[in-house]
Amino acid sequence: MAFHQLLIRDEQSVRFITINREEKLNALNQTILAELHGALTEALADNRVRGIVLTGAGKKAFVAGADIAEFAAFDAAQGLRLARDGHRNVFDLIHHAGKPILAAINGYALGGGLELALACHLRIAVPNARLGLPEVTLGLIPGYGGTQRLTQLVGRGRALELILTADMITAEKALEYGLVNVVVDQSVLLEKALEILQTIASRSPNAVAAAIRAVNAGLDPSKNGFEVEIEEFSKCFGTADFAEGVSAFLAKRKPNF
Ligand code: COA
Repeated sequence: MAFHQLLIRDEQSVRFITINREEKLNALNQTILAELHGALTEALADNRVRGIVLTGAGKKAFVAGADIAEFAAFDAAQGLRLARDGHRNVFDLIHHAGKPILAAINGYALGGGLELALACHLRIAVPNARLGLPEVTLGLIPGYGGTQRLTQLVGRGRALELILTADMITAEKALEYGLVNVVVDQSVLLEKALEILQTIASRSPNAVAAAIRAVNAGLDPSKNGFEVEIEEFSKCFGTADFAEGVSAFLAKRKPNF
């Protein structure tokens, strides 16, 4: 697939996907959403790729939200399609991905931009990043999973504080809330992203995918997370990764997954 609003590059076993619409603060239009679907699908199917970084072009914004101009004249039916397609094609795809996806938040992460980061498995941010869900200022609510994933991550009280006030918080506050994992300088943001994903890439890919499924199951009301953990745990025993991990440990060498 050819990409017009994404930049794609690989470093070691990590794929970097950069949303490249700097003049509009990387706001998510339909082209970007379709390209993200394509780029993520490709990365997830590519055996050389063991982790994915999502970031925004420039130093000002990760993603300043869904493209407000694009949905300005929408009615309820169009709003329904926008949210449903977005959930299915991008946000749920990220949430359920069997490879770790990390949001490298290089500036504003607002509205759909914060929701994109929330769908990822890990989030790191620069000190001047600003995070928020400003939808209620537009007469909307978050529609790409923000009401659910923010609540799961930081708890109901803090999620409602952010959603109802629409205020942006600093990266430092986001770290305190558990909304981001680490805060690092802009100059080393992508280096840190690579370092984290390379660490995960050195672990069993089968076990990493199973752990994501088990953790996600606990957040899914239609599933019993403990049961899913038991099943996923048991299935690990039949894998080549398990044989390699255990024999490497017993032979006092590093595993080669
Ligand atoms: N959708 C569409 N365009 C957007 C956008 C969005 N979510 N966010 C920023 N842009 C555009 C601006 O319209 C502007 O375009 P222009 O130069 O053609 O006028 C450009 O990006 C630069 O943004 P600007 O507002 O001039 O930058 P700023 O530094 O003054 O303010 C923000 C930065 C992030 C505070 C401000 O852009 C903003 O509030 N954006 C909307 C955030 C939002 O509500 N997101 C949720 C959407 S559901």
